[in-house]
Formats: sequence, C-alpha cells, structure tokens
Amino acid sequence: MTIPFVVLKFGGTSVSRRERWDTIGCLVQQRREEGLRVLVVVSALSDVTNRLQASSEGAESPSDVLPALKKRHVDFANELGLDVDAVLGERFAELDRLAADPRVVARDLGWCAEWQAQGELLSSTLGVAYLNSQGVDIGWTDARDWLRPLDAPNLSEWSRRLSARCRLDADDDWRQRFAAQGEALLTQGFIVGDGEGGTCLLGRGGSDTSASSFGARLKADRVEIWTDVAGMFSANPRRVPEARLLVGLDYDEAQEIATTGAKVLHPRCIAPCREAGVALHIRDTGHPDMPGTVIGGSQTAVPGVKSTIPGVKAISTRRDIVLVSMESVRMWQQVGFLADVFEQFKRHGLSVDLIGSSETNVTVSLDPSENLVSSNVLEALCADLGKVCRVKVIAPCSAVTLVGHGIRSRLHRLTDVLAEFGRERVHLISQSSNDLNLTFVVDQDLAEEMLPRLHDLLIQAGAMPVRESGVFGPSWRALNLPPDAVETPWWRERQSALLARAGEATPQYVYSTDCVESRCDAMQSLGAVDRRFFAIKANPHPELLRRIYAAGIGLECVSAGELRHVFDSIENIDPSRVLFTPSFAPRDEYVEAFERGVWTTVDSATPLRSWPELFRSRTIWLRVDPGFGRGHHEKVRTGGHDAKFGLPVSQLDDFLTAAREVNARVFGIHAHLGSGIVDPGHWREVYAQLVSIAERVGTVVAINIGGGLAVPADPAQPRFDMDALGRELAVVKAACPDYALWMEPGRYLVADAGVLLLRVTQVVDKEGLLRIGVDGGMNTLLRPALYGAWHEIVNLSRLDDTDCDNFDVVGPICETGDVLGRRRLLPRATAEGDVLLVATAGAYGAVMASNYNRRGLPAESLL
Ligand code: LLP
Repeated sequence: MTIPFVVLKFGGTSVSRRERWDTIGCLVQQRREEGLRVLVVVSALSDVTNRLQASSEGAESPSDVLPALKKRHVDFANELGLDVDAVLGERFAELDRLAADPRVVARDLGWCAEWQAQGELLSSTLGVAYLNSQGVDIGWTDARDWLRPLDAPNLSEWSRRLSARCRLDADDDWRQRFAAQGEALLTQGFIVGDGEGGTCLLGRGGSDTSASSFGARLKADRVEIWTDVAGMFSANPRRVPEARLLVGLDYDEAQEIATTGAKVLHPRCIAPCREAGVALHIRDTGHPDMPGTVIGGSQTAVPGVKSTIPGVKAISTRRDIVLVSMESVRMWQQVGFLADVFEQFKRHGLSVDLIGSSETNVTVSLDPSENLVSSNVLEALCADLGKVCRVKVIAPCSAVTLVGHGIRSRLHRLTDVLAEFGRERVHLISQSSNDLNLTFVVDQDLAEEMLPRLHDLLIQAGAMPVRESGVFGPSWRALNLPPDAVETPWWRERQSALLARAGEATPQYVYSTDCVESRCDAMQSLGAVDRRFFAIKANPHPELLRRIYAAGIGLECVSAGELRHVFDSIENIDPSRVLFTPSFAPRDEYVEAFERGVWTTVDSATPLRSWPELFRSRTIWLRVDPGFGRGHHEKVRTGGHDAKFGLPVSQLDDFLTAAREVNARVFGIHAHLGSGIVDPGHWREVYAQLVSIAERVGTVVAINIGGGLAVPADPAQPRFDMDALGRELAVVKAACPDYALWMEPGRYLVADAGVLLLRVTQVVDKEGLLRIGVDGGMNTLLRPALYGAWHEIVNLSRLDDTDCDNFDVVGPICETGDVLGRRRLLPRATAEGDVLLVATAGAYGAVMASNYNRRGLPAESLL
C-alpha cells in the first residue's frame, strides 16, 4: 500500500447538523486532492449514546427509548433529504431485535455493548448515504471487522467489554485488505469486534481512540480529530478566557494534559499514535481554516516549535477524585505493608492514580474515569483495608495539575502559585516521576475557582513560558474577539520612514505622536473621571509632554527633577495641573513643590512630624496602601506589606492626629497599586476602598485611583478594555458621586507609541543556539532584564521574510542577563547591518536607559 491514509474523526456535535456534513464532504475531497486515502471515523449523533447507555444500565427499558431513538434519526434523515426506509430500514430492524433480546433482562454485558454500538452504526449509515447523495464517493465499513480489543491480566469483565483498549499490531496483509475496501471510507468510532461476532466498546471518548488506533494500524500520514474547539488550551477556556491555544505539543505533554483533565482529546487516544509515530491534529469543525493543535509527528509540523522547552504548558483540573487515606503506626519500616494494602485495591478492581506517603500514612487517589468507583465498591474496599489500618475516605476532591517538561527546573518560579495553594486546604501533593506533572488535590469546587488566578500567576512568574517558545498561540479570548479588537500596530505601515531614521542613528527610540494622541482621546473618553494626569516617569520626552498637556491631561511628577523638567518644557504651565507624588524624598523637594504650588502627596506621618513648620496649614494629599498590590511583575506592585509605598489603613488615625497637630488639611486620598494591571475591575475596587477611607478623614474632596493600565505587548492579545473600565468606573461613581475622581496613567498613553530601532552587529551560532547581536541591550531597554518583560521583536529590514528560525536577541553588555528576547522566530537570513525593531517600547524605555559599560544613551525622535 503506497498511498497513505489520513484519518479524520468527527464527534457528536460535528455529525448532528447538515452543514457540518457538508464540511466533512469538503474535507474528504480536499484530502483526496492532497493525494491521500481517507478514513472518516464518526461518533453517534449528540446525546444518543447517553440515552443508549442509560437504558442499558437499566434507567429506562430499551423498548421505551426505541420510539424517541428512531424519531431522532428519521428527523435527521429527512433533514439530509434521504429516503428513510431505504437508508435506515435494516438498522431499525436490528434495533427492534436487540430491544426484544432475552439478554436484556440480565443486562448482559455483551448485549449492553451491542445496544450502545447502535448510535455509531446509525450515524455512519446516515453519513455515507448523505455524502454519496452529494456526489462524494465514500464507502461504509464496519469497524468491528477491523479493530480488536486488547486482552490484559487483571481486567474485569466490565473493562473487557465496555471499556476496552484496542490492539495496535497490524501487518501488511491487514493493511492491504483494508485499503482494498476503497480510497475513501467511513466507519464508526467507539466500537470494536471481539472476533466472534460480538461487540466491545472503547469507553467514553472511544471514538478518538478508534481514530488513533486506525491511524496507528494504517501507519497513517496523520490523524485529525475534528471537534468544536480550536485545539488544546493551557487551561479550560470556559473557566479561563486568557488560556492560550497550544499550537505544538509532544506526545508526552499532550498525554499528560489529556489525562489530567482537558476534555478535548480522550487520554487513551494518544498512545496509539505515539507508538506508531503518527501525528495527531486537533481541528475545529466550525473554523476549518484554523491550524489547531499539532501533537507529535515530525518536529517540523509547526515551524519553529521546540516543544521540549521546559516549563508549564497547561494547568488542568479533574473533578470527583476520591482520596483514600490509610493510617497505621505499624507501617513504618514494616516489610510488605504497602503490598498488603495495594493487594486490596487490586482485589476490588480499582486502579490507583496518585500516591503520597509519610511514616504513618499512605494516601492514594482513585480517578473515576478509570474506575467504577461506586459506593458499594468503596465500602467493600474500606472494610477490607480496615483490617490492616485506619481508613478515611476524602471526597469529593479535585486534582489541580501543572503539566509540562522539566517542572522541577522551574520550581523557583512557582513561589506565588504555591502560596496560593497555601491558603487553601491541600490534601495531597504529588510530583510525577517523569517530571511532567505536579498535582495538588484540594476540595472539590475550590479548584475551579482558583484556576483563573493560578493561570495568571503561572504566566506572570514565567513558569508558563508563553513567550519563549512556539508552543503557545493566541488566547481563547483573542480567538473569539471581533477582528477589529486587535489593532495592527502603526509601525507596520511606516517601514521605510523608520528604516530611514535608523540610517541616522541607532539605537534610537522613535515615537508616533498620532498614537499618543489617540490614547489621550481614549483616556478623555472616560466620562466618570474628572481629571487625568500623565505619570511622566514613563516617558518625559518634552514634545510628548506638550502634546499630552495640550490634550487636557495634567502631569504627575515624583521628584524635584521631574518638576523642574515639566516647568521647563511647558510654557506657562498651570501648577494646579501638576501632581507631586514622591517616595522617601528629602525635605528640600517638598519645599520646592510647595513653592511651585503643585499638589503634594505624603504617604506617612513622618514628614509631618519631622518637618512640622514645612507642612503647617498646608493642603496635602495622602497616599494609602489598602494592603494589596497588582501588576505585571512583583517589582512593580506598589501595595501590600512588602511595598515601601503608602500609609496602611491601620495607621490612619495616627496620621490624622499628626495632620491636625500641624493644621494640615487632607484634600485628597491617593492609591497607586502597581503597573500593568489587566482587570478593569481593579480601579472600581480601589475607588470603593478609598471612598471608605475618605469618609473617615472627613475633609476629602478628590480621590486619585492611580495608573497602572496594562498595555499587552503581544500583538495577538486584545488591547486594554477601555470601555469596560469606563463601565466599571461609571458604576462606582454613580454610587459615590461626592468625590472628584482622578487618575494618573503612564504606560497607557505612551507604550504603544514608541519603538526601539537597533542595528544587527553579529549573528552567532553557538553549538546550535543562534544569537542575533544588536547595538543596544539592557543599557538601552532594561525591561526584559529587570522584569523578564516581553517585547515583540521583528527584523524591519526583512519584514516580509517568512523563512524563520529561533534566535535569541542579545545586546552588547557584559552580563549574561543582557538578552532582549529568547527563542524568537526571525528570518534565517538576518545579517549584520539589518535593523531590528522592538515594539511597545514607548513607556519605561529610553527613560530607564543607562551609560553602563560606557555605552552611549539611545537617540530619540518623533514621527
Ligand atoms: N502613579 C504612580 C504613583 C506611579 O508610581 C506610577 C508608576 C504610575 C502612576 C504610572 O503607572 P503606569 O500607568 O505607567 O503603569 N518601570 C516599570 C513600571 C514602573 C512604574 C512605576 N510607577 C515597567 O517598565 O514596567
């Protein structure tokens, strides 16, 4: 057999609608045009297997479900425009025969399997008839003639019949006979034949397993699993909209993700493909144009993907875990104790998943998807175990698992994640011996609740390397956004102008004033906000300050130097449009601020007590710390016990006493809790908290809720949701309208407006790791070295070159940390003299540059 097969599998929702069958027809034709033979594997129409299973388990009598079952298929045959009797006549006769079979009474397992197999037999029959009627040449074949169950010791009769695994061995003769059936074939998932005319089932999700078993036995080109989601995600996207599409995984990671909770692929279906080296693709039937997830196969399936990059690829949860805790003082160093205990699990047909042990306790988990964990079985198990130890069953629990290669090498990045668990009740922690997973078992429901926060922490701490590798694609949220929500960056259309600038000097920051002005407009559109100030520390370029000021936005300064700079840059500046919010500043700076007549902020009672004459009868602002910080990195979170900023609420009374002593009046309450905050709800929360503090102070007129609005660096990610922020603020402002609401963003106004242009100095291959050297590094843009910040980097000289490889982009500074980006896909042809562009560099870029290594400061210009 020289022409390989491709196996396409379609699940229940993909076979229950006529237009989906049209998609299936198109895909069959396309694969034929690629020169491949096609095998289509289908599930039953949605919900049919559930009904069949319920009736085979005795919930309903088979003859009672018959009419509804037939009607469902008659209706669908009509929708497909088929001759019902001609297509379904024989299948219905089989249904009648089975419903009247004497084996029903005892719910014989062989009968159960045959009865449940009817769903796939019906859907596949309808599908072939419809495709043929549409001119697609495809034949029907009975999966039970081709697939056989695997026999294994210790299998219960239930597993053998209703949760079988597939034999994968196949010889050329088998393949030739199969291929002789036709160039395009359609068959059933979920069912295999026992070789004696009987049926066995592959268990829940068995259609995936059928497809991969066929793929393995046929040595297929690939197996495509068509579902109703875009692929595998870094977390359940229904719980975590920020979960990222996993575009390329190796078999081990995919196996682990599927086993530990992701529903998109049945865990049993990966092993057959892995053993045969057949790639497994997950695709979305609703969006056949999207690439989905590619698992294994040749590593070039997704260009640039090195899926063995260490780090957490996904976080998953499994519900309904049962823990069995076994306590015995005698177990310590007692030979054979574990053997005795596990013997009982074997006797009751239960397979154990996780194991934790101490000197006096062994706790194991039972996974319901692999076991028939009924209360009867558990009771019997406990009774037997009770003879050798004290037994406690802890249920229901959920297992939260971090999956990825080399988690051990990333433990230092898991501090925040571990702290999160520290607050909850963890019953068991287990680390797999293959270094692929770290699992925490907690109370049911808690897990789901924790998931979004944990996912966020994993990304922020760099434990999930979303930017380092080609493993991660867009987020679920980004995939589901209207196309205009993701903006094309301005610099893509200014290639030649920017190259000309680079010709004048590199390293050089170039700013788009249009972009700054559009961000000012967006800021001005927040109706609930009364006054806005730009935190000039983000970018004090004088011309940008003038534009921002002219757009009606005041300026926020943190030092006497910044104050002087704004007064020098803007003619006739109105001091009431300037804020002074220093941190641990010397006395002189307050003196200067009061002299200039700007709004001045203190964040402890110390200045008032140390310099009472200076503060006597002044109007001041008070910066508070409500006890938490937020932001893109721990170094930029400015609230909470470990941050140096702000008066804790517990010291408010003492502060007010100090203020009264010098007759200072608290005009405003301020809090800025960090930088790069994504959730618009943050500022609503801050406003509400500051209002309650303002009430205690009594003299407050205005409340400043700080800045910190995030600017996503990744172009695939949606922009900060300004409309949502507007809605959040409108709600709290309406509830507490008595205070003027002020804000002071920095990054938001300037980050997207700036790009950094760098010249390539050398391209070096060091034992296979490729590096592009550029003429500015951490001395020019400190953020990657300081915060691990990610900036998009492109080769501006070769913007349309798609022949790429993975490179690290490094600067000229003599420090190992001088890396601007790791494992970036950049043109293979990149050479000395090319210009690289670093995007989203307008905030905290040039202003944080230094002369380190006696290298020059970057140039700056406007576009
Ligand atoms: N208000 C105060 C009191 C601040 O300290 C800051 C920033 C802001 C407002 C403006 O925050 P923004 O909207 O820009 O996030 N170098 C770090 C950011 C440090 C932010 C310091 N304070 C970075 O590159 O991410």
